Amino acid sequence: MYGGGYIFDEPNGKQLREEQQHDDPEKLAVFEERIARGEKIEPGDWMPTEYRRQLIRLIEQHAHSEIIGALPEGTWITRAPGFKRKLALIAKVQDEIGHGQLLYNAAETLGKSREAMINDLLSGKSKYSNVFNYPAESWADVTVIGFLIDAAAIVNQVANAKGSYGPYCRALERICYEESFHLKQGHDALITLATGTPAQREMLQDALNRWWQPIMHFFGPPDKSSQHSEKLMQWKVKMASNDDMRNQFLDAYVPKLWELGLTLPDPNLKKNAATGRWEYTDPDWNEFFKVIGGDGPCNKERLNVRKWAEEHGRWVRKALMNPKEERALPVA
Ligand code: COA
Repeated sequence: MYGGGYIFDEPNGKQLREEQQHDDPEKLAVFEERIARGEKIEPGDWMPTEYRRQLIRLIEQHAHSEIIGALPEGTWITRAPGFKRKLALIAKVQDEIGHGQLLYNAAETLGKSREAMINDLLSGKSKYSNVFNYPAESWADVTVIGFLIDAAAIVNQVANAKGSYGPYCRALERICYEESFHLKQGHDALITLATGTPAQREMLQDALNRWWQPIMHFFGPPDKSSQHSEKLMQWKVKMASNDDMRNQFLDAYVPKLWELGLTLPDPNLKKNAATGRWEYTDPDWNEFFKVIGGDGPCNKERLNVRKWAEEHGRWVRKALMNPKEERALPVA
């Protein structure tokens, strides 16, 4: 039982159902006062149905993004240039999977089982970050992911770690420590390519050109068309709007790229000195919705890898859950 309402998965983990359909207005008022005072909400506390539903949606998507996000970089472990970079990449990929574990644990405290979450990922019902549906074609792509996507994730996570749901905030705090190491390895790889041979610079510039739009999409649709921001910000789940996070990211990282003589594929990108806000060409939002709807360049490939892992790891999970029945190892 979770904070005043039973919540459980339907037999196949597809639907969440609550006994309590309507939130008690008195409890809601107390809850909102707690949020306004900056208190953390913990799993056993009463919470509105919609707060729980939104948190499950957001944390689950975040968890999926971590484990799917390990795939494009994972394919580069054997090809990373030199032993040190291979070691660093192995550690980073391992960290990302660990972040997935932390986040699935946080989502489970809200009453949705991990099995149901994985089923929803594999069936395409749950989303994960748009950026991981693009291919990592060269080492420079891995560099751009390691620097700019980790940077973008840090902007989001540092803000939301100060949010209202205790288990999510604590998971984010720990994730941010590790992400800051990832950022350093990404920055080091970026500097090496940017100050390297003309071919290395060209490879980096090409990767930046291809990744810029997905990175602009990463923070979500513009505030005026974000569906969930208003409620999530009122409940302090999201601590900054999509546009504010995008602006913070541009402010911190565009100057670093320009200092290295790199360019970004948007002639309108500039900071407005009067407003302090960045101006840019609106990225193609049709492309964004297509990708998050399952029709990006690598969606099928990414989910197929997870499906393969799910299928081939089934005997291990069964053996762990029923050690007496599953003694025999499968024949290779
Ligand atoms: N990739 C995939 N889907 C995205 C997205 C992205 N970069 N940005 C937004 N969306 C989806 C939302 O999930 C939502 O879809 P849904 O209603 O089917 O769940 C839809 O686009 C509308 O967006 P919005 O109303 O702005 O969603 P939001 O308030 O949840 O904000 C995030 C989007 C990404 C900022 C927010 O979900 C978030 O902070 N998530 C946690 C961090 C995270 O997942 N990071 C990714 C990996 S490091």
